Amino acid sequence: MKTKKQIPDLHHLYEASVQGVESDLDFATRIFKNKNGRKPVTIREDFCGTAALACEWVKRSPNNRAWGVDIDQPTLDWSLAHNVAFLPEKARPPELICADVLTAQTPPVDLIFALNFSYCLFKTRDRLHSYFKTARNALNNEGLLILDLYGGTEAIEAKLEPRVIEKHTATDGTLIPAFTYIWDQAEYNVIDHHVINHIHFKLPGIEKIEKAFTYDWRLWTLPEIQELLLEAGFSSVEVYLHDWTADGESDEIYRRRTTYENALGWVAYIVGIKTPAVRSGTQLK
Ligand SMILES: C[S@@+](CC[C@H](N)C(=O)[O-])C[C@H]1O[C@@H](n2cnc3c(N)ncnc32)[C@H](O)[C@@H]1O
Repeated sequence: MKTKKQIPDLHHLYEASVQGVESDLDFATRIFKNKNGRKPVTIREDFCGTAALACEWVKRSPNNRAWGVDIDQPTLDWSLAHNVAFLPEKARPPELICADVLTAQTPPVDLIFALNFSYCLFKTRDRLHSYFKTARNALNNEGLLILDLYGGTEAIEAKLEPRVIEKHTATDGTLIPAFTYIWDQAEYNVIDHHVINHIHFKLPGIEKIEKAFTYDWRLWTLPEIQELLLEAGFSSVEVYLHDWTADGESDEIYRRRTTYENALGWVAYIVGIKTPAVRSGTQLK
């Protein structure tokens, strides 16, 4: 039975702070349609956590299908109770698979997403190459792998970046008060580009929640990712980046770029294209 939860938990706070599943799906749909001349239908969300992206996908059309892969069963259980259970009746629930993304078996899909830099937990070229190969094999011939990456001159500096998240109601009806999300770049090793980042939360009337989430990653660079995708068999790779508003913020409009200024901080989408797109006998740009 669907009941209204009153107390937000860490997954609610994470989803509200970090994820932008609607814009991720809009971006990938635009690029896929541009390459293949049709709408994507099937997606797989790797490192899916609470499967917010997979749930948003199946909400968009009763034809859409989604798979979510995560290694942590309790997080998938949270997704079933708080996201999947609240899908509209017409939506086909995503299939959530508790597995390692390096070995998970799913039918071939149009799009695979590995977002919020999750793949950066693969710290060696061998491991990341294996992941990219596995993801490529899990795509159909028109398929695209969608990754993101952060960078910029501030990406390797220790910093605490607070942002206020507005009061809202979560998918399961939980009322989330305005709270502060704090991104903490705690450690950066010059020698191997390993980083430790934390997420803290500050809610009204509650002690600060320190280290709600901790990430032990290798901060890869755009050229490394592009080279590894090609080595893993992708036919080509494209990098999409935003421009800036008058206030110096991201304008959230992603265009394909081959050069980019050395900015303080940016977030890029990287698109791995499995095979060259051929429509009406023409190579698409
Ligand atoms: C940062 S969360 C990502 C959540 C969400 N997809 C997003 O974009 O924000 C990372 C998730 O990856 C999962 N994970 C870590 N290693 C994994 C692996 N080898 N295979 C599958 N999932 C993994 C964790 O359990 C965690 O839920």
